[in-house]
Amino acid sequence: MIRRVSLILALSTVLLAVCGDIEKTAAQKVPTRSLKDLFKDDFLIGTAMNARQIEEKDSAGNGLIIRQFNAVTPENVMKAEIIHPGWDKYNFDLADKLVAFAERNNIKVNAHNLIWHSQLPPFVRNMKNTDSVRQYFENHITTLASRYDGKVYSWDVVNEALDEDGSLRKSIFLDKLGDDYVVEAFRLAQKAAPHTKLYYNDYNIEQPKKRAGAIALIKRIQAAGVRIDGIGIQGHWRADKVPMKDIEESIQAFSALGIDVMFTELDLGVLPNPWDHQTADVSQTAAGNEKMNPYANGLPDSVAQMQAKAYKDLFTLFLEYKKNVTRISFWGVNDGQSWLNNWPIPGRTNYPLLFDRDFKPKPAFYSVIATAKEK
Ligand code: XIL
Repeated sequence: MIRRVSLILALSTVLLAVCGDIEKTAAQKVPTRSLKDLFKDDFLIGTAMNARQIEEKDSAGNGLIIRQFNAVTPENVMKAEIIHPGWDKYNFDLADKLVAFAERNNIKVNAHNLIWHSQLPPFVRNMKNTDSVRQYFENHITTLASRYDGKVYSWDVVNEALDEDGSLRKSIFLDKLGDDYVVEAFRLAQKAAPHTKLYYNDYNIEQPKKRAGAIALIKRIQAAGVRIDGIGIQGHWRADKVPMKDIEESIQAFSALGIDVMFTELDLGVLPNPWDHQTADVSQTAAGNEKMNPYANGLPDSVAQMQAKAYKDLFTLFLEYKKNVTRISFWGVNDGQSWLNNWPIPGRTNYPLLFDRDFKPKPAFYSVIATAKEK
């Protein structure tokens, strides 16, 4: 009897050692090996945090964030429509909670964002008067950047200012403030937040034409003697169409400007694209049908494997350029929490992240950590 018990004990020890990744908690299985530890000498590993997580109402999500990530970006709560809903009205509540959560858990905050044409409060969207826009622009940047200076690590100072052809996107800011508005945004942020890193963030800037526009924009900021510390390539790609060559060329081209390169909103969607172009423009939406939502009942293993390979290739590339790439942030914690379930088509079932709807690591998680182990 005693022998049998010790055999069982010995066997379970071996089994535990083999499954070293898995630590059982009452509610779920969580990998003990964490992304942030495995890549700690390479780059920060971040995630977007939604409002429930910021309020610490998603205990499994919050636990996973603390365990896996050392950088967070608020998915929505620091956007103008939420944090600055009226001319003299600011809602700092959730942003302050995010900062406190991050500080308590030794996590860096990338604040997102100061100037963006989307998710503006109605009082700004409807502004006709140039002086009012200028006043809003100055107040908004100065108030937020100074309040969080020394509390957040970095700001996305300007988000998505470029069009696909590399020219400046038509927006209320371009229209009322002219083409130096991006430089001015960085100048104001630099003054108000001397201890905070300042970034430009956009999607599709790995594409050659838009990349050229981003390079011109950065050079213009630098030529004005204004500080810009880095560029964020959002990274909302399709798992079967990751533009690896463009990404590599972009890392090289952007780092040649002397700034950090980051992948700031990474997710590799697996659902069909309603268009023949690739975009992350939140204002472009499409109607859906069953054909556009093929995996409503589960992710086929072949697709999960294809996605795992795409993530592996990407992280292999990121590691090759770890001197230049300073942060990789995923846009959401688990698949069920991803914005891609509702954009560009509402109500679909997408699987773009490393953790499934039960917070369990997917094949993509294991393929990503394998790149770190192979070093
Ligand atoms: C998205 C959020 O994930 C959604 O919750 C929100 O409804 C719309 O915005 N580029 C960005 C992000 O810079 O702020 C966007 O986030 C996704 C595209």
